[in-house]
Amino acid sequence: MKTLALIGSPRKDGNCDILVNKLAEKLDGEKEVLFLNELNLGYCDACQSCQKGDCIKDDDTRDIVAKIEDADLLIFSSPIYFGQMTAQAKTVIDRFYMISQNPERSLEGTKVIQVFTQANPTDAFDAYIKSMETMPFAFLGMEVIETIIARGAPGKGEGIEDALKKIEELEI
Ligand SMILES: Cc1cc2nc3c(=O)[nH]c(=O)nc-3n(C[C@H](O)[C@H](O)[C@H](O)COP(=O)(O)O)c2cc1C
Repeated sequence: MKTLALIGSPRKDGNCDILVNKLAEKLDGEKEVLFLNELNLGYCDACQSCQKGDCIKDDDTRDIVAKIEDADLLIFSSPIYFGQMTAQAKTVIDRFYMISQNPERSLEGTKVIQVFTQANPTDAFDAYIKSMETMPFAFLGMEVIETIIARGAPGKGEGIEDALKKIEELEI
């Protein structure tokens, strides 16, 4: 099994970083963990070149999408920022356009584990996180097999005990 994990937090050693690495430790096979904030992330320019072939934007986001296409499992993580995923994480999602617009490319069948972290201890963002299962993931033929949410997790390593336990107990 080939796994690609994306850390959408800008915070090194933060909650996403800790949870994603814990998850990656559990998995067999080839795995790569990418810290998005360290990469050259470019936005989708809506140039539509992907409708005629590959994305022409030469940046790391294009390579990340190609790596997701090649993976069996995507671990997609982000802290909640103002009720949504970070800009780093959304930048990758928007570039899925190069797949959805190109009939020769597909993410069909790729499994996804979502990891979200938030300071708020309530279920305030659960509906938003749940909606990701449909758009973008199911829309692209991907299947969310697990969602880990660390609620009440403001500081690095704070309030993530339940999420860590859930990861330990996961059968994957
Ligand atoms: C710019 C910014 C916006 C945030 N917005 C929210 C928010 O809307 N709701 C919330 O519960 N936490 C919010 N937080 C807190 C983070 O989601 C929380 O600290 C998270 O655990 C950070 O994960 P990380 O350690 O992987 O960066 C925000 C933090 C920052 C820096």
